[in-house]
Amino acid sequence: MKIAVASDHAGYKMKEFIKGMLVEMGHEIEDFGSESEQSTDYPDHGRPAAEAVSRGDADRVVLVCGTGIGMSMVANKVRGVRAALAGDPFSARMARAHNDANALVLGSRVIGEGMAAEILHIFLNTDFEGGRHLRRLDKIEKRI
Ligand code: RB5
Repeated sequence: MKIAVASDHAGYKMKEFIKGMLVEMGHEIEDFGSESEQSTDYPDHGRPAAEAVSRGDADRVVLVCGTGIGMSMVANKVRGVRAALAGDPFSARMARAHNDANALVLGSRVIGEGMAAEILHIFLNTDFEGGRHLRRLDKIEKRI
């Protein structure tokens, strides 16, 4: 898959960790910054990364900030993006199976790299179940 990634300063180290994992898995990455732990604003990186998914230039996006909350707010404002802030494996699985999330958001000040790795694996390897869940997603997009 082609996967966009972005973080602010708080999420920079975890973003780099995630990139390493994605490369090992054979995915193509587009990195929207940040480039260091120097203070930056999460919308400056999160919005263009989420827009890459909205345009169809990326299949998924992984966003990291301190809590994951700001990046979630940003990503869910972008048309067609369904961002899930996941801090545990069950939420990561349900975000895909029931919500067809195309954006994974992680809080680098909330979870460690081990948990982030497990969440990422699940997020990338769980299929959407469709059915009644599709109807609900249609209602989010006001297609019904
Ligand atoms: C940065 O200090 C922090 O506010 C940011 O990373 C994020 O947690 C915002 O939601």
